[in-house]
Parts: sequence; C-alpha cells; structure tokens
Amino acid sequence: MRITHRLLAAAIAAFTLAPAQAQVRAFPANLQYPNGACSLSPKELSHWFASGSIAKGGLVTFANSVAFPQQNTTCDFYKWAHQMFLWISSPAAGGIVLESPTFFDINFDNSGGHYIPNAAGVVRHSFAVRGTKPQSIQPGGQAGGGDTVLSMNGSLVYFGVHANDVYAWFNTAVSNKAIPATAPFPNTQAGLASVVSYASSQGTSLPDANALGLELKTAWVDAATVPNAADYVTIDATVPNYVKTSSTLWTINKQSPTVAKTLALVGIHIVGAVQGHPEMVWATFEHRNNAPDNSFYFNTLFGSTVQVPYNSTGTWSFMASGGSQSGALVPQMTIDPATGNVVATNGNSIRQNNVYRVNPWGNAPTAASAGNNSQLISLNLDIDVMLGLVGDVRGNYTQVGAVWTSDGSIPSGPTSPALRGSLLLANTTMETYHQVVIPNKSASMGCFGCHSSTTSTGTSHLFPINPLPTK
Ligand code: HEC
Repeated sequence: MRITHRLLAAAIAAFTLAPAQAQVRAFPANLQYPNGACSLSPKELSHWFASGSIAKGGLVTFANSVAFPQQNTTCDFYKWAHQMFLWISSPAAGGIVLESPTFFDINFDNSGGHYIPNAAGVVRHSFAVRGTKPQSIQPGGQAGGGDTVLSMNGSLVYFGVHANDVYAWFNTAVSNKAIPATAPFPNTQAGLASVVSYASSQGTSLPDANALGLELKTAWVDAATVPNAADYVTIDATVPNYVKTSSTLWTINKQSPTVAKTLALVGIHIVGAVQGHPEMVWATFEHRNNAPDNSFYFNTLFGSTVQVPYNSTGTWSFMASGGSQSGALVPQMTIDPATGNVVATNGNSIRQNNVYRVNPWGNAPTAASAGNNSQLISLNLDIDVMLGLVGDVRGNYTQVGAVWTSDGSIPSGPTSPALRGSLLLANTTMETYHQVVIPNKSASMGCFGCHSSTTSTGTSHLFPINPLPTK
C-alpha cells in the first residue's frame, strides 16, 4: 500500500475514534495530536525500507551512522535509533536481523564473555534469567544477585546481550593490539577504516560497516504467555528450566536444566556510535503492552501543554489492570548467583510484579519535559500509524527515548551538563527497580547513572570481552 499524507491523517483520525483499542496501545486517546516536533513523513519512512516502500515484514536498512549530520537536531538522534530498531527487528532468512551473521550473542562463563556467531539458518539462542541489574558482570552470566521480574501471566523475563560485527572486530583488533587500547569506539570514517581493514586482513568483510559498532541488551518473555504472540517479535531460545519447589523457591531442574521456548520481545536497548559521538547514543524500546506511564506532559498541535494522567486500565504484561503505583516496583524475588535459583525476597513470595514507567519518555514527569516528550510522541505516532496500516508487528514497539552528549564528550556522571535527550531513561523490563534514585544506594539516574566513564569504551560494561578467533 502506498501511504500518503492524506491517508496518514485519516488513519490518525480513525485511531482517535477507537478508544477501546487505544486503551492498550502506547498512545492514549488524548495523545493523538502531538505538535509534530519530530515527525517522519511517509516518504522518509519508505526510504528506510530496502525496497523503497513501506511493506509488512519488509527489510529496513540500518541508519548510516558515519553520515550522521554534524549540524544535528534532537530529532535526528531519535530517528537514528528508531531506524536501527526497525533494522534489527526486520525479518531476515528464517529469523530476524538480530539472528543473522551480522550480530553475535554474547554469553558469559567463568572465562568471561564470548561472541557466539549466528549461523545462517535456524538459530537457537541460549539466554539466562538474570538479576535485573547486577552491578558487575558476574562469571556465569546468570547471576548478579539482582532482582528479577515475573509477568502478569507468570513468565520470568529472560535477558540477552548482543553486539554487531563492527563492535566485535573493533574489540578483536584492540585485544590483539592492532588498534590502540586508548582508541574510542569508531565514530569517524578513519576510525571505521582501521576496523574494516583489520577484519579484511582476517578474511571478513563487514556489510554493515556504516552502522558502526552496536551493543544491545534484550528482554523477552515466554511467547506462550502473551495474549497474542503475533503482536510480538519472536525468536527461539533455550532458557533455564525451573521446578516450582515452593512459593518462595524455584530450583533449576537437575535432569533437564534448560528448556526450549519461543520468546516474545518486550524490551531492547540499542546503543551505538554516530559520527562525532564516541559516548554513543543510548536508546531503549518497549512493547506497548508492557506497563503504564506515570503522568506526564506534552505539547499539542494546538499550542497547549497538557498533562496525561496516570491510567493503568488495560491489559499489561507487568501491571494488573487498574493497578496502583503504591506497592508497585517492589522486587519480589532475586536470582541466587551461586545456584541460579529464583528466591523470594524477605517476607515476599515468587509472584507477579506491578511495574509502571516512572519517568515517561525518559524525563522527569514535570511540564519542563513537555518538549522532549512531544518529539518522541510525534515520531512514535507517525511510525506506529504507518506500520499499523500495513499490519507490521514492529509498530507495536515504542521508542521510550535516547540519551547522548551535545559535543561528543564522555559523560563522567548522570548529571553531566553536556547530556541531551532523555536524561532519566530506563526500560521497565531491564531497569525495573532502578528507575528512581535510591538514597544511599549505587542506583541510577538514567543510562549514564551506571554507564558513565572517562573513556569511550569504558561506557560499556562488556568491553573488551574475549576476542573473535583470528588466523
Ligand atoms: C543500575 C545500573 C544500570 C543502568 C541504570 C543501566 N544499565 Fe545498562 N548495564 C548495566 C550492567 C551492570 C550491565 C552489564 C551486565 C548485564 O548485561 O546485565 C549493563 C549492560 C548493558 C548493555 C550491554 C552492553 C554493555 O554495555 O555492557 C547495554 C547495551 C546497556 N546496558 C544499555 C543500557 C541503556 C540503554 C540504559 C538506559 C536506558 C542502561 N543500560 C541503564 C547497568 C545499568
């Protein structure tokens, strides 16, 4: 179908007239007319598709990170992130691009992290149930002593970590001293050229070189537990197999410690450098059915700033319909790092968690955030409507926000004045309990609450991991 502006306007109007449907969608009915601060035209979106037209299941190409505009706007960063999401979740040869040879899963054992190549054909990932936020990478990957999340329908959340080939070959070149350890993540044509030439010396070409290096973290639930698996991007994986020993303890089944499942994507962090930005752009996406937003403000097409109240009515994966904020965000259970068992926290039982998005669009829920919120709302709405018209599942995912620095400086902390975008960004499936600053705890204020550093590569908790095999 060819999508014109007129069609787009008609679709937005129809969308507004369907409040019942809007209930569980990312856009409440009163959110239909953002001021268009960051709009994406049908023409622009068609150009993201390899075929040149918006089509259900069509391959979206990666954003050209080397050609990222130097005279840029906030909207340029959000569009970059969204194009990368649509690329990574594009169908490709029996799976999605995340499962193609361009990406690696990163698995952890006692000798650290390892790049696991995706073979062409059927891929079965091996994902752990991890603490939501271990404060350091634990050997074994499982662990972390962190809190974890159970969905309303009883699925644990499973986490994966991934990187693309540019990231992996940069890592390998640094580990093998072909690129100095002080080098930033490639963020210029010259920086990229040394990675491409090193990979080429090892007989590898990098078809996605201009995507630059990308590192991802993904969150999944058992696809058998969501109301309609067709509304989700899915993959096949093996995950830990638990026996529900008691209401406070689930143990790993000794006879068959893992089980094969189809998993449904609920959250994804997409992090990568663009030209002049070695600190990387830190973006996050969520399925629209995850959890309700706290109240927030945005600017309308008609020039007013309106407040959207908290409304938890709907079918959510991580919030009971009509659930209250009080009593939410309390970790009910943790993963025991020694055994991988699920253990209830003191006085609690292993049960569903009520979760909400404390800082919608990654900003404090005050009127001062209306401008940033409007940018994200207008971009998401345009993409949602255009992909919705062709019935593409990727339209069910919302960009919550992204954060970077104005001048490419490396943020030494979460309040660095150069930070731009969504300063309190979090994903309800991955930073569930770290959305707010917990006094006296090493907690978070957005991505750079934990990923701040003095060097480009220091922002990654992974880098460097064990290099790829070389000749
Ligand atoms: C409370 C601390 C904390 C916050 C807040 C946090 N992270 Fe992380 N993140 C970690 C830790 C620890 C790891 C490594 C272990 C793991 O994967 O769980 C990690 C891993 C990652 C990875 C895998 C690659 C890497 O750098 O190690 C990505 C990508 C990532 N985080 C993105 C984000 C984004 C985007 C945000 C903000 C929306 C964010 N993180 C917020 C602690 C945090």
